[in-house]
Parts: sequence; C-alpha cells; structure tokens
Amino acid sequence: MRGQTSIQVTAISPFLAACRRERVERTPVWFMRQAGRYMPEYRALRERYSLLEMIRTPELAAQVTLMPRRLGVDALILFADILLPLVPLGLDVEFVPGRGPVLAHPIRSPQDVQRLRPVHLEEDLGFVLETVRLVRREVDGRLPLIGFAGAPFTLASYMIEGGSSRRYLRTKQFMYEYPQAWHTLMATLAQVTLEYLRAQVRAGAQAVQLFDSWVGALSPHDYRLYVLPYTRLIMEGLADLGVPRIHFSTGTAGMLPLIKQAGGDVISVDWRVDLDRAWAILGEDVAIQGNLDPAVLLAPRDIIAREVRRILRQAQGRPGYIFNLGHGVLPETDVNTVRWVVDLVHNE
Ligand code: CP3
Repeated sequence: MRGQTSIQVTAISPFLAACRRERVERTPVWFMRQAGRYMPEYRALRERYSLLEMIRTPELAAQVTLMPRRLGVDALILFADILLPLVPLGLDVEFVPGRGPVLAHPIRSPQDVQRLRPVHLEEDLGFVLETVRLVRREVDGRLPLIGFAGAPFTLASYMIEGGSSRRYLRTKQFMYEYPQAWHTLMATLAQVTLEYLRAQVRAGAQAVQLFDSWVGALSPHDYRLYVLPYTRLIMEGLADLGVPRIHFSTGTAGMLPLIKQAGGDVISVDWRVDLDRAWAILGEDVAIQGNLDPAVLLAPRDIIAREVRRILRQAQGRPGYIFNLGHGVLPETDVNTVRWVVDLVHNE
C-alpha cells in the first residue's frame, strides 16, 4: 500500500521525479522558508500566536505549511524548526523577536554533554508527526511534503553558542579542546536526528532535507574529521526508506566533494558557486538544488529574470535539477515576486 502511494505521487510530482534524476516536463521549484514572515497571512496568524505555539499546535502548523500552495510551488516543507529536538534533550529554547533563538543553558563543558536527556520521539515531538499526518491528509497525491531536521554540526553550534553566531568561536574551541565530548555530542545528535527523520517519513513525509546551515564555517579538513561521519550516519540510516534525501549547506563551495561523500540524493548549493561549476564538481550521479541568492528577490524584476535565466541556463536542462534559493526567503521579500518567479521558472 505504502509503495503504491509513493509511485502514484512520483508519477505526478516533478519535484520527486527530479530528486530521482528522472526527466521532467518543467523545472520543479520550491523555496526554503517559503512559509514565513514575508507572507501577510503568516504575519496575521503570528499576531495571535508565538512561533512555538504555532509549531506545537498541529492544526496551526499544518495551516502554515499549506500557505505557500498559492505560490504554485512544486513541494511543501513542514512548518517546524530545526531547534525543536533541543528541548527534550534538556536545553530550553526561546525565540526572541529581533534576536532569534536563545538558549538559557548552553553547553560549555563535557559535563554538560553528559547531562543531555534521552528523547522519546512520539511523546516529545509527536506534534510534528501529527502535523505531517494532517498535511498529508489535506494534499495527498497532489503536492509532496518535505520533512526536515537540523544536521549535527548546525545543532551543536546553537547548543554551544547559546544562539545565533557569526564566527562560531565557542563551537570551534569546544571541538578542539574537548574532542571526546564533541564526538559524544555529535553521535547523540546524529542518533536523535536519524530517529526523528525516520519518524517523519513513517508519518508521511515524502522527502527529507537535512539542514547544515552553518557548517561552511569549517575548513574541509575539520569537516572531514569532526562532522562528516555523523552526517553520513544519518544519510545512510535513511537509505532503506527510499525517500529522497536532500543535503543542504551554505558556504561549502570549497568542500563540495566532502558534502557529497557525507551523502544525499540531492545536494543543495548556494550562490557562492556557479551552478554549472558545482555540477562539474559533484558529477551526474546526484541531483542538485539551488542556487539563487535570496537578496536577488529584492531586486527589480528585470534583474531577477536575468538571474533566474542565468541559473536555468547553467542547469542546461539536465535531469535532476530543482530550482530553489541558496538559503531561505528573506522577510523583506514581496510575496508577489515569489509567485512571479515560480511562473518564470515553470515557463522557461
Ligand atoms: O518554510 C519553511 O522553510 C519551514 C519552516 C522552517 C522554520 N525554520 C520556521 C521558522 C524551517 C525549515 C526552519 C529551519 C531553520 N531554523 C534553520 C535552517 C535553515 C536556515 O535558515 O539556515 C535554522 C538555522 C533555524 C533556526 C532559527 N529559527 C533561527 C536562526 C530563527 C530566527 C531567525 C529568523 O528568521 O527569525 C528561527 C525562527 C523561525 N523559524 C522563523 C520561522 C518561520 C521566524 C519566525 C517568526 O518569528 O515568526
């Protein structure tokens, strides 16, 4: 029954087909952070509820997940946040307007790693799984749903820094000074993330994206030593489920071969590398997603069209291409521009 459902959706989903490097009639497109503050209907809901209230109420989270349908995108991404699993691990996470996430008790010593608590998925993050089920019920057979989680390095950076960071100095210091505790932390995060993504797929997610947003802060050497084995553990641990795995990172143009080695059916690349160059490095045996600079969506339309067409030209109609930004939609973006870009990509 399960297999049948996914075959049916593949037949009509250009997004899932492109993830599998099958030929498609038109380029599939979706956007990271496609449900968010740039949408008036999101802001209206946000006036009544906090981010965490919205995420923890499956009916509201499903409603937000579905909002980008009106843009004409080829996939939906679950409305949740990569930092959710940190709460059951024992770290309090708060989203402070204007400041982003704030953790009251960051990890600063090996003892703090020992204190992490076991996560019971259904109990602790059941609301996310329920959102997946609600969305699937609403759109079944029409639009695929992407589940997601944060990758171990990016999660560890928030746990150690206590919030967003620019230089990741505490994270790197911890990694160099306490390698054993670092490896314990990464192994714990890899295990929790793998189980979390598997649960999302069991609940109905048809693809998964692993967000390693900040790993580009590392040298290729440190990536290989301190990060790659854990990302690979997650990617390999998902293989038997047969859903496309998208590996997202930014600032990693200098280590694309390592990103590929870590795994993923689709590699998401940012605008700091030309798409055709990324493709030459990555080879034809993975699909590619990207890579418009989100800031371009703030430009006049002739510039946007120029940049979208430039990227599509670099993709050269190869199978296995998914149009996206190199990072999330900026809150300053006009929602009509996003809608217009979807049409532009579809009609090229
Ligand atoms: O539409 C979607 O993409 C789905 C929902 C989604 C959110 N967060 C909701 C959210 C996704 C996929 C994420 C992932 C996420 N969260 C990442 C990885 C992607 C990336 O951008 O690199 C990271 C690093 C986070 C952590 C996080 N969450 C930060 C740093 C912030 C504050 C900065 C900001 O943009 O406000 C958040 C809050 C957050 N998560 C918002 C949303 C829509 C803003 C919410 C609001 O205040 O209404």
